[in-house]
Amino acid sequence: MATRVRKAIFPVGGLGTRFLPATKSMPKEMLPVVDKPLIQYAVEEARAAGIEEFIFVTGRGKSAIEDHFDHSYELAATLSARGKIAELQLVRDTLPTPGQVAYTRQQEPLGLGHAVWCARNMVVDEPIAILLADDLILSDTPCLKQMIDAHAQLGGNMIAVMDVPRAQTASYGVITPGRRDGRLIEVKGLVEKPRPEDAPSIHAVIGRYILQPQVFEHLSGLERGAGNEVQLTDALARMIGDGPFYGYDFEGRRFDCGTRVGFLEANLAFALRRPDMRDRVKDFLKNYT
Ligand code: UTP
Repeated sequence: MATRVRKAIFPVGGLGTRFLPATKSMPKEMLPVVDKPLIQYAVEEARAAGIEEFIFVTGRGKSAIEDHFDHSYELAATLSARGKIAELQLVRDTLPTPGQVAYTRQQEPLGLGHAVWCARNMVVDEPIAILLADDLILSDTPCLKQMIDAHAQLGGNMIAVMDVPRAQTASYGVITPGRRDGRLIEVKGLVEKPRPEDAPSIHAVIGRYILQPQVFEHLSGLERGAGNEVQLTDALARMIGDGPFYGYDFEGRRFDCGTRVGFLEANLAFALRRPDMRDRVKDFLKNYT
């Protein structure tokens, strides 16, 4: 049995430039899908997978995230005075157990790899989960739980993958696949944002990772890569061959909420799953021209 995954890193230090002007003074990760911020979906997914410690790598202008996971005394008192019990419960549900959450700050948004590296002193010699809140996954079993269950048997490194149209490989990290066993695909190579003609497969890396702590050492020595950012993919590529490394072809539908259309699609898909909204939304979609 592999060492249990207890901690998760949530890199939320990016600028979210594809969502300007909405993200000028509001973190992208606080954008709501229906009525819940993206980051809350990610935290709930991690909790459902058994994660006990939540490490946020924040940046400038991201304090709304810390406030979201904190007590709001005035709001709670007002809701209570007005007898809004259901709403009060919703607000209480956002609260982690005291001491479960830690924040560190990425002073400059130098890339996802750099954001993860910023959390290196908060993880000692144990595997770590990483969740990117803008990859929102609708599934019967939360994506990270699917992966953690598989990881418990296998250990090593594991990254979520899904097939994308070949024309889109330049937007993703892409794996060179080896043997396939059910949902598990052996990772033999990894390349960030390959052109379609150069892509080694159509298995794209999605924002859920379970990594061995050696990732921090690999990140330490890294130069900036694609987009002049420190790429997590480059560190992962160096870890291939160190031990088992799997892509996990998860069950579920992923929405890229870092893009406008992906975000809209997520809102529609999640609204259509809500009994209180489904009929009106369906009606609107059918009749709107
Ligand atoms: P993205 O690649 O979507 O980058 O980051 P971004 O800066 O947030 O958005 P755009 O491309 O400018 O629109 C994926 C995840 O990695 C985090 C982001 O906050 C997001 O959750 N990230 C990215 C960091 O924490 N730090 C960085 O320097 C870059």
